[in-house]
Amino acid sequence: FQKDILNLVYICESEGLHEVAQFWQQVVQMNEHQKATFSGKIISSLFNTVTNKKICIFGFAFKKDTGDVRETPALSVCHMLLQDGAVVHVYDPKVKREDALAEFRYHQMEVDERRLIFASSPAAAAEDSHAIVVLTEWDEFRAYDYGAFYEKMMKPAFLFDGRALLSRAELEKIGFEVHTIGQARPRDGHMRIQDAAGSPPVSFVPPPRCLSPAECCSSTTGKVILVTGTAGFVGFHAAIALKKRGDGVVGIDNFNSYYPASFKRERAKALEEHGVLTLNMDLNDGEALGKLFREHGFTHVLAVAAQAGVRYATKDPQSYVKSNIEGFVSLAEVARAQDPMPRIVYASSSSVYGLNTKVPFAEDDVVDAPASLYAATKKS
Ligand SMILES: NC(=O)c1ccc[n+]([C@@H]2O[C@H](COP(=O)([O-])OP(=O)(O)OC[C@H]3O[C@@H](n4cnc5c(N)ncnc54)[C@H](O)[C@@H]3O)[C@@H](O)[C@H]2O)c1
Repeated sequence: FQKDILNLVYICESEGLHEVAQFWQQVVQMNEHQKATFSGKIISSLFNTVTNKKICIFGFAFKKDTGDVRETPALSVCHMLLQDGAVVHVYDPKVKREDALAEFRYHQMEVDERRLIFASSPAAAAEDSHAIVVLTEWDEFRAYDYGAFYEKMMKPAFLFDGRALLSRAELEKIGFEVHTIGQARPRDGHMRIQDAAGSPPVSFVPPPRCLSPAECCSSTTGKVILVTGTAGFVGFHAAIALKKRGDGVVGIDNFNSYYPASFKRERAKALEEHGVLTLNMDLNDGEALGKLFREHGFTHVLAVAAQAGVRYATKDPQSYVKSNIEGFVSLAEVARAQDPMPRIVYASSSSVYGLNTKVPFAEDDVVDAPASLYAATKKS
């Protein structure tokens, strides 16, 4: 248990064994970090938000064959998902909802209890969910009919295996997008998961490659498109679709560490297989952008590079201003200086409707009541 390790840290400190204490303290920190990274992976894979999405959790207990919830990893994973607005449906053969709630309270973790549901069966937990998350290594979890769950889930259906318990190959055959903690995905064009410890540094520079921007610009439609944020979720898929259509496509991305840069690097690698190069470039680097525009004569710009996410603003508010306001203006200014001027398509966000009480939202609604810094910078 974590508390035992913390006791050990205390004893080591009081005996003057500072280095040993530091070692055990780091073990605790790594555990916490791994849980946060796992939850972060879930949120970023589900298109950067789990708000109002049903997430199915298989297993809440600390370990199999017990109803013990003391210091279970399910606590921090569920807490983070609930904080992000998910509706969490847990199925655990032994754990009772009141025990789980008591443990949240014990750790002073506030949760919206209406959004934490304990299902009576695994099928009920999985039905209509966007993702199944396996958090305890119960044997019965191996025996479930995942094909039947898949049929009733939202698509794309994700499975996050936090215990490396299930067969990835079989789940992928069914159609699941599978992420297993601590295991990399095969090089099949899918993105690859790595623990944050294995992530490259923020300033990751892609290795030299044979594909050149000029090759990427060859087009059968007459359109040559700069896509910003190609290492991100939307930019990656949009670049592939445009390339398949016959457009010339060049991407840029600054590979920032808002979520693991290893995800982004894998996307950039996968894009190369589609003939799209992602240059490591920041929107604010007007000089490099100008050179790129002059060399390739883009007809269009798809501007999807941005600091996304709502919660992250509490950690790094400047990144929203830097990318969504300064970066966008820098890009727009460079585009404006070109002759002929390329057309720009820009990704806004439904967040701009913020505290709007009128539903459904309409494009001509006034968007003067943003509920987050993200929304405010997007609206700006
Ligand atoms: N995913 C959604 O559900 C959603 C919903 C509404 C709006 N959007 C908008 O769509 C766009 C794409 O979102 P996403 O989900 O792909 O986000 P994402 O975070 O996966 O991708 C954004 C990419 O932009 C890059 N980037 C950020 N700042 C940059 C800068 N200054 N210079 C160069 N690159 C930079 C990041 O490294 C990242 O790879 C964003 O503008 C977002 O606000 C997304």
